[in-house]
Amino acid sequence: MTKILVIYYSKTGNTKKMAQSVGEGVKDAGGEPDIVNVEDFGDVEKLLEYDGYIMGSPTYFGILAAPLKDLIDRSIKVYKKLDGRVGGAFASSGIQGGGNETTIHSITQALKVHGLVMPGFSSIGHYGPAAVGEPDEKIISECKYLGKSVTDLAQKIR
Ligand SMILES: Cc1cc2nc3c(=O)[nH]c(=O)nc-3n(C[C@H](O)[C@H](O)[C@H](O)COP(=O)(O)O)c2cc1C
Repeated sequence: MTKILVIYYSKTGNTKKMAQSVGEGVKDAGGEPDIVNVEDFGDVEKLLEYDGYIMGSPTYFGILAAPLKDLIDRSIKVYKKLDGRVGGAFASSGIQGGGNETTIHSITQALKVHGLVMPGFSSIGHYGPAAVGEPDEKIISECKYLGKSVTDLAQKIR
């Protein structure tokens, strides 16, 4: 079965709620999600177990939160071993225009350096789900769509 890691950081719960919905989308597509708080993720070698990675972060000064950046930095250990796997990102911010899209970009920049392939979107937020505060119904459905899209693509190309 296609295994997708949904990994997030969340201090006040908004990004965690999004992660749970992304995981539902993975399941809807017939994949197996692991929904993990980055603080509970063990050795980076574990990354090798997955077909795809969807990373979610609160917006901290317009970019991803430090615990996720720390995981990315430690993932140098598996550099060149993830090429051709699938990726995606989502983010939460406090205010509209507060940088949730730049946070998504800060994640996808790193995922691209790992050689991941990512779906684009014409029917949800352009770069992935970008919530302001607590995710509403629209964002919840976008999160499910993200999970399904990444899983569908992984099933096609892996
Ligand atoms: C250190 C810090 C920096 C933040 N920087 C921004 C920011 O640049 N723009 C913004 O809109 N919100 C910012 N916020 C607000 C959070 O992104 C927002 O509350 C988010 O929904 C929190 O997600 P969480 O509930 O998953 O922790 C910041 C919050 C903290 C604690």
